[in-house]
Amino acid sequence: MRFSMAAAMAVFVVAMSAPAASAARAFYVFGDSLVDNGNNNYLLTSARADMPPYGIDHPTHRATGRFSNGLNIPDIISEHLGSEPTLPYLDPNLRGNKLLVGANFASAGVGILNDTGIQFVNIVRMSRQLQFFGEYQDRLRALVGAARARRIVNGALVLITLGGNDFVNNYYLVPFSLRSRQFALPDYVRYIISEYKKILQRLYDMGARRVLVTGTGPLGCAPAERAMRGRNGGCAPQLMRAAELFNPQLSRVLDELNAVHGGGTFIAANSFRVHFDFISNPAAYGFATARDACCGQGPNNGLGLCTRLSNLCADRDAYVFWDAYHPTEKASRIIVSQFMKGSLDYVSPLNLSAALEIDAIAEEKAEAERRRRRERAVAKLVGDKPHA
Ligand SMILES: *[C@@H]1O[C@H](CO)[C@@H](O)[C@H](O)[C@H]1NC(C)=O
Ligand SMILES: *[C@@H]1O[C@H](CO)[C@@H](O)[C@H](O)[C@H]1NC(C)=O
Repeated sequence: MRFSMAAAMAVFVVAMSAPAASAARAFYVFGDSLVDNGNNNYLLTSARADMPPYGIDHPTHRATGRFSNGLNIPDIISEHLGSEPTLPYLDPNLRGNKLLVGANFASAGVGILNDTGIQFVNIVRMSRQLQFFGEYQDRLRALVGAARARRIVNGALVLITLGGNDFVNNYYLVPFSLRSRQFALPDYVRYIISEYKKILQRLYDMGARRVLVTGTGPLGCAPAERAMRGRNGGCAPQLMRAAELFNPQLSRVLDELNAVHGGGTFIAANSFRVHFDFISNPAAYGFATARDACCGQGPNNGLGLCTRLSNLCADRDAYVFWDAYHPTEKASRIIVSQFMKGSLDYVSPLNLSAALEIDAIAEEKAEAERRRRRERAVAKLVGDKPHA
């Protein structure tokens, strides 16, 4: 066999310049306004959070499109990963090395079903979010090559949050909605769960191997629902029933998928439980109220949108809810910390810190094996050289 010295050197240089295994893993986010960090800013839609007082406590003090006073759940997960926040997929700055951080595909207003959120007109529905994920992977391959792109996607953490809008912005949007005439609630839940399973399977087929799936919170206890449907400010019973039907069925689907793809591929995050803790005993978490929104108007400060003209609370950290539906940064921090370190009641079949640790050890082993292989290849080339 003949190899030029240049070829041997090329292999050697590649072997030496391979990226360190310690680079933070990529993070991909899918779903609705609970996790959108600005995609809707680029769309003609009414589902947006790009005006003050949104972002009042964000590091930039600007409204970024996050439905929060400050950071949101994906941002706080990024902190735990040791990464900068992912960019929205539609942000033109998402290019070059920024692609390695990951991407956020979420869009406020979307649901599991295509007909959820139609009143918001232009939103990135789930089939399109997945199509964008495919496009993203093409761009990643162009940047780092097919083999490494696949490793990055397989090694990534994925977060998906869906379901709330299929009730709030579909089934219960108006009295006698199309879907509520078509389905009794238990049948509707079965239907959306079967569609959700297809979305999750598709994520797996596209390379996702560690997917945190959040269930819905106690939807009826959101300030908007208390104001519109609750009695004397109590939680709205029909939306509580919806969440109580939806969450256990979602857990079962994740168990089914894990039975096929391996335990812990899909991790169920119990948002209902965390929110319910806040509602049962707000003071235990440092909140003054779990019933009223910080920004809004009307009963529970829960009617209409959060705008410059709304009532705005002085101490955002004293509120679970920032606006009529979305948590404050403070509440989001507690939610993420329960996903990270919580017991099986909060996150199952394992908590996120355990998953991240297992994955880091596996990645270290795989990287050591790749290094050994490269070194063997170099040694072989140098050893085989006929005229050294
Ligand atoms: C939603 O729309 C996409 C794109 O038009 C389509 O491929 C998909 O089958 C639709 N999903 C449902 C459940 O109808
Ligand atoms: C989170 O997972 C780790 C690792 O399995 C475990 O040691 C820890 O006890 C878990 N946290 C809780 C509260 O169960």
